[in-house]
Amino acid sequence: MNEINQRYIDDQDSVPSRSIRLRVNRVMREVRCEDRQLLVEVIRGQLGLKGTHVGCLNGDCGACTVMVNGRIVKSCLMLAASADGADITTVEGFATGEGLDPIQDAFWSEDGFQCGFCLPGHLFAARALLTTNANPTDAEVREALAGNLCRCTGYVNMVKAVRKVARGRTQAPGTTEAPGTIGG
Ligand code: FES
Ligand code: FES
Repeated sequence: MNEINQRYIDDQDSVPSRSIRLRVNRVMREVRCEDRQLLVEVIRGQLGLKGTHVGCLNGDCGACTVMVNGRIVKSCLMLAASADGADITTVEGFATGEGLDPIQDAFWSEDGFQCGFCLPGHLFAARALLTTNANPTDAEVREALAGNLCRCTGYVNMVKAVRKVARGRTQAPGTTEAPGTIGG
């Protein structure tokens, strides 16, 4: 073994690590992570939540999207250590009740996805849009979903799915749900 390889192995052994506490999908979890680990690595590795996907690792595709303290975050751009104490929702925790959330249901019924790799980003973006805009136009939906890349669909059915949810909410008789409370 040459000196460079040995130094690399020594370096692996001395990587700083720490325990962090996260509230993940409404459950407190404590995990040990290396200081250099990305949040997406810890979510998939230590927490075993494989619905958060690794695409570009560059902030471009949105496949790794989660909510951190109520904000949409691309988890490949955040160190796990810096999320210590945070409240995190992954796609596994997207639905807050029994069964699918209406947004998931609409993506399903409108064929809004195929392989589903891109779903974390699109679902969280759709929810954020509908929280602030109860009846978005096609253009507004497209703008809100931009930044999440899908290699399977042409995005058309995703737009239909989001519009379907909006229609259902604005047309439902006796609907009292106020913007800001959608989907919990
Ligand atoms: S893997 Fe994070 S944005 Fe692509
Ligand atoms: S459904 Fe396959 S990447 Fe979007």
